[in-house]
Amino acid sequence: MTGGTLYLPDTPAGIARAAQALRAGELVAFATETVYGLGADATNATAVAGIFAAKGRPRFNPLICHFSSASAAFAHAVADERARLLAEAFWPGPLTLVLPRHPGSPIVSLAAAGLSSLAVRVPSHPIAQALLAAVDRPVAAPSANRSGRISPTRPEHVRAELDGRIAAVLQSGPSLVGLESTVLDLTGPARLLRPGAISRAAIESHIGPLSDNLGADGGEQILRSPGLLASHYAPTLPMRLDARSVAPHEALLGFGAILPNAALVYNLSERGDLLEAAANLFDHLRRLDDEATRQALTAIAVSPIPDHDIGLAINDRLTRAAAPR
Ligand code: TXA
Ligand code: MG
Repeated sequence: MTGGTLYLPDTPAGIARAAQALRAGELVAFATETVYGLGADATNATAVAGIFAAKGRPRFNPLICHFSSASAAFAHAVADERARLLAEAFWPGPLTLVLPRHPGSPIVSLAAAGLSSLAVRVPSHPIAQALLAAVDRPVAAPSANRSGRISPTRPEHVRAELDGRIAAVLQSGPSLVGLESTVLDLTGPARLLRPGAISRAAIESHIGPLSDNLGADGGEQILRSPGLLASHYAPTLPMRLDARSVAPHEALLGFGAILPNAALVYNLSERGDLLEAAANLFDHLRRLDDEATRQALTAIAVSPIPDHDIGLAINDRLTRAAAPR
């Protein structure tokens, strides 16, 4: 990208401009209800390759393709009864289904990193919906951050990560869920690849028990999926989880009641609300990392987060953020 990045308002004119850029093979970041995505026309190999270049991804990992409706998604990925039930229950919304790829689909194989499966999702965010309808093509979109960094939940996060590297950012408010979608593999026995806002129990209530088995590939798909690598979502400072005290060199990412002697605190939810904590997680982690570094603090302590409901997904992301690099 030589020119500057365009910052577009999320008005009908801004959406039309963003759709035009996507159809022309350019990269456009846009809001979804989970996190901001970096979109490209999934039927254009050069555009999809541009995603990996802009993010500085060291290797090709499979991307999620976004659609404005289930019928559009199922024109590219083969839906069985389970997929139809889940689409009916949770789409549009923060659930990604990994399905066999339709042999006739024009989606380029790079979008799925050469796999015979395809990850598809119908986001509920009204701006994402309007954009996808206007583009009228599958849009591949990973989170709009540099590889290995914290996922963006606000347009200013995208600017900090990708300014000058992409054609445009369609600017909306904060992503309300704040965590990436739940990823469910339906190419064999149903198995959860990434926890998210749609819980395992909610999924099981529609299609029965999920498998804990890694599947015929011995988990190879999991290993090649970036969101599932141990070290991911990394802030620059080291993190210490389940902290019940704060040392003088530490900033605190708090949850609920705050430890008395913490010098620098961002609280995910003062009232101990897990949904509010999920929505704040990446924003607070990013700000805390910046401010702590400026104040010469050298680590981030994190209060214990209850391990139930969306707390499971929060702890999943925190564990990756704290993993040795
Ligand atoms: O909420 C979200 O899902 C966001 C927004 C932008 O929609 N997108 C997102 O994309 O988180 P990304 O690229 O950061 O994560 C994609 C994840 C991978 O970690 C992997 O687990 C899974 O999707 N995935 C994609 N294609 C797959 C495939 N064919 N088989 C298995 N897993 C796949
Ligand atoms: Mg990501």
